[in-house]
Amino acid sequence: MITDPPGSWTLGDRTVNRIGFGAMRLPQNGQAFAVDAVPRDRDQAIAVLRRAVELGVNHIDTAAFYFSRLRSANELINRALAPYPDDLVIATKVGPARDPSGQWLPLARPEQLRGQVEENLRQLGRDHLDLVNLRVSGLDSISEHFGVLAGLREAGLIRHLGISNARPAHLAQAQAVAPVVCVQNAYGLGYRREQDAFLGTCGEQGIAFVPFFSVAGADREAGGVAAPDPVVEVARKYDVTPAQLRIAWTLHRGPHVLAIPGTANPTHLGDNLAAADLQLTADDLVLLDAAPQE
Ligand SMILES: NC(=O)c1ccc[n+]([C@@H]2O[C@H](COP(=O)([O-])OP(=O)(O)OC[C@H]3O[C@@H](n4cnc5c(N)ncnc54)[C@H](OP(=O)(O)O)[C@@H]3O)[C@@H](O)[C@H]2O)c1
Repeated sequence: MITDPPGSWTLGDRTVNRIGFGAMRLPQNGQAFAVDAVPRDRDQAIAVLRRAVELGVNHIDTAAFYFSRLRSANELINRALAPYPDDLVIATKVGPARDPSGQWLPLARPEQLRGQVEENLRQLGRDHLDLVNLRVSGLDSISEHFGVLAGLREAGLIRHLGISNARPAHLAQAQAVAPVVCVQNAYGLGYRREQDAFLGTCGEQGIAFVPFFSVAGADREAGGVAAPDPVVEVARKYDVTPAQLRIAWTLHRGPHVLAIPGTANPTHLGDNLAAADLQLTADDLVLLDAAPQE
């Protein structure tokens, strides 16, 4: 049994702080994947990544398909952080793909996954990937896809595997093939609460649950902060922002729940990491549980 210090979790063989960083917001201003997205200022994105690591972030979520016309999340991470700190876990995901002009392509076939892994290796400038999530999207059975990734893990290209946008049946299929260290699904306060049971299952099995859109909620790629009444009320009580309150609530869902809020704003970054210190009471949690489902 591994005992982690408070505020951290062991992903595979690596201990990470429970608040990490999501890189999807970095390549563009405004909505992710918008065809007319304005590329982000490179220096701003690099400064945010470096500041994140200075402030203790050692878990960054990315993907090769996070890019705008002129910026790629992986290239920004490479430029900002290489040579990488020893304790940094970079998690990427495979399955979806966009062509060079940004149009979505069909989900990768199993035989295309090796190329996607190598694309991430090239862009990040690494010889292995710390953690690769198979983004399941639309597959009933993931056994064949996951089998390919398990082979790449055996070959030393990948250290650890996870799944994303997954259902409990997918977890069982994957575990029949190789160990799974995390499940990355959309979830947050008042958002996708039908995931509660799956989140609990992951905790029982020692698997990290890594929610995305935990700040934005139903506004998803458009971004912003979902702030229904109880969020505003409890945030005011502690003199924190609704975004901080949402992140703190996420951490209160269990020690295995890891936040990966996305931002390109240095002030928001500092606020998000400070949310680790916010202790909510049982009464707060009851009030917040009554937040309307989006
Ligand atoms: N597996 C998947 O399918 C999947 C899908 C989507 C995302 N992800 C990953 O999950 C990460 C998190 O998702 P996300 O970035 O879409 O959503 P999010 O973290 O829920 O919310 C991001 C939005 O909240 C704003 N924000 C963040 N902190 C704030 C603060 N302290 N105050 C005010 N506004 C704040 C950001 O704008 P500012 O830039 O203005 O701060 C942005 O608009 C992504 O970056 C990505 O790495 C995975």
